Amino acid sequence: MRPENNESAKPLSSEKPKILLATRNRHKTVEIQMMLGEGVIVSDVTGLAHLPEIEETGVTFEENSKLKAEGISRHVSGIVLADDSGLEVDALGKSPGVYSARYAGPGCTDEANTALVLKKMKGFPDEVRSARFRCVLAVAENGVTLAIFDGTIEGMLAHEVRGKGGFGYDPIFMPEGHQQTFGELSSEIKHTMSHRSRALQQFKDWWTIKLAERC
Ligand code: IMP
Repeated sequence: MRPENNESAKPLSSEKPKILLATRNRHKTVEIQMMLGEGVIVSDVTGLAHLPEIEETGVTFEENSKLKAEGISRHVSGIVLADDSGLEVDALGKSPGVYSARYAGPGCTDEANTALVLKKMKGFPDEVRSARFRCVLAVAENGVTLAIFDGTIEGMLAHEVRGKGGFGYDPIFMPEGHQQTFGELSSEIKHTMSHRSRALQQFKDWWTIKLAERC
């Protein structure tokens, strides 16, 4: 965890703490709600038309997560959490990286992105198929980043799409210690080890202290 400043935020008023996610990606929202549990109300910016569309102009996950968290938190009260995440393939110079969502072009599908990675990796033997998922979470309030958390899961690329679970690149990524892809493994197993759950665990620890300070 890397706290960015010591400003304490306003007390939360509702019984259950609320977190707004700076995302319109429902997959991320569902995963984060599952990981944080029912004691927290997680919502995202889907349908909140008054909020700006934040352009991801950063060249690192950290820059983009801060842009999203700070940009949205200027327009709402309370804590905003932003996730910037993606796949890094060593043989492709850590691409698609921050361009994971739009690797095959603007507005493209998960299937198109996955197919492009597999095409570029065609013929590469297992020894050079190392890859990782990374997730950087930024927490902001009133336009100021309060903390940043970073989670990684190492693994290998499969040679073909396998499994229908998860989203994004899950069907081509085998986490370390497994021969199955995240698309084949259950969401419960994914959540015990994923980049997002690792970053989120750090956030939970930080937030528990913050909530106690606000009481
Ligand atoms: P972002 O919305 O700019 O952070 O883009 C994240 C993109 O990275 C997603 O659209 C997916 O393509 C990919 N990604 C991030 N996390 C995961 C994951 O847990 N599984 C599969 N793909 C992921």
